[in-house]
Amino acid sequence: MKIGIIGYGSMGRMFLEKMSGTAEFAKEEYLIANRTQAKIEHLRDTYQVCDSNAQLAAEADIIFLCVEPSEMKKVLTDIQPVVGKATFLVSLNGSIQFAQMEQVCKNKFAKVIPSVTAEVNQAQTLVCFNELVEPQERELLMRLLSCMGDVMELPESEIGMGSELVSCMPGFIASIFHEICTVAATHTMIPEEQIIEMVLKTMAGTGRLMLNNKYTFEEVIGRVATKGGITEEGVKVIHNRLPEVMEELFQKTLEKRSLTTRKASEMFGE
Ligand SMILES: NC(=O)c1ccc[n+]([C@@H]2O[C@H](COP(=O)([O-])OP(=O)(O)OC[C@H]3O[C@@H](n4cnc5c(N)ncnc54)[C@H](OP(=O)(O)O)[C@@H]3O)[C@@H](O)[C@H]2O)c1
Repeated sequence: MKIGIIGYGSMGRMFLEKMSGTAEFAKEEYLIANRTQAKIEHLRDTYQVCDSNAQLAAEADIIFLCVEPSEMKKVLTDIQPVVGKATFLVSLNGSIQFAQMEQVCKNKFAKVIPSVTAEVNQAQTLVCFNELVEPQERELLMRLLSCMGDVMELPESEIGMGSELVSCMPGFIASIFHEICTVAATHTMIPEEQIIEMVLKTMAGTGRLMLNNKYTFEEVIGRVATKGGITEEGVKVIHNRLPEVMEELFQKTLEKRSLTTRKASEMFGE
C-alpha cells in the first residue's frame, strides 16, 4: 500500500508525522509532493519524495490532498491523466464538493476535516465519502485517522457546520478564553501566566468531567452555581449576553463558507 500526501504545509506535515508514526505502514510507503520542492528535500532519507504531483499519483493507492482550496482544481488536473480508477482521493477541504472534484477525476473520494488538536491526539476528525468508496476503504481511512483521536462520519451536507465545530472551534475557544483571561487580569494582581494556567486547566478539567461523567452543561452549572451565590451572578450575565454574540459568530462563519463554496464553483467552471 502506498500513501501519498500532496501539499506539505501545516496539515500535510501533521498528517505525515501522525500517520507514519503508527505501525500501520512502513515510512517508505509514504510518498510526498509539494509545490516548493526545496521544502520536502530533507524528507528523502525517510520517505519517498516525488518531483511532481503526477509522479506521486501514478504510484499511490490513497492520496491526501493537503493544498489550499484555490489549488485543488490544478492538483486534480495534474494527477487526472495518471491516477488509477481505484485510487482513493482524500480532500482536506470542507467547502469543495464531491460533485466538483468528480468533474475532474471520477474517483473514490473522501473529505476529511482535521483539527489542530490532532497534534496532541485529541482530535475529533470528521469524514464523509462519495458513493464509490467501498467498506474496506472506509475502514482503512478511519483506521489511519484514528492515530489523531476520534473519527466521526457525517453526511456531506453537514460538513460545513461540522468544520466550524471541530476545525474552527480551537480558534473560537482560544478567543473566548483569551477575553476571559484579559478581563480577569484587570481585577487581580495574579500574574497573567498564572491566570492563563488556572483557566486552561480548569477548562480542560471541565471537559474531562463532562465527558467522563456524561454530565450535561446544566448539570455542571447546577453543581457549581448555588442559588443566590456568586457563580449564579456570572452565569446570568453569560445567558443574557452571549447568545446574541454566538448567533452573529455562526452567521458570519457560515456566510464566509458559502462564499468559499461559490468561489470553488467558479473555479470548477460551474
Ligand atoms: N490548517 C488547518 O487547521 C486546517 C483545518 C481544516 C482544514 N484545512 C484544509 O487543509 C488544506 C491544507 O491547509 P493547510 O493549512 O495545510 O495549508 P498550507 O499550510 O497553506 O499548506 C498548503 C501546502 O500545499 C502546497 N501546494 C500548494 N499548491 C500546490 C500544488 N499545486 N502542488 C503541490 N503542492 C501545492 C503548498 O506548497 P508551498 O510550499 O509551495 O506553499 C503548501 O505546502 C486546505 O484545504 C485547508 O482548507 C486546514
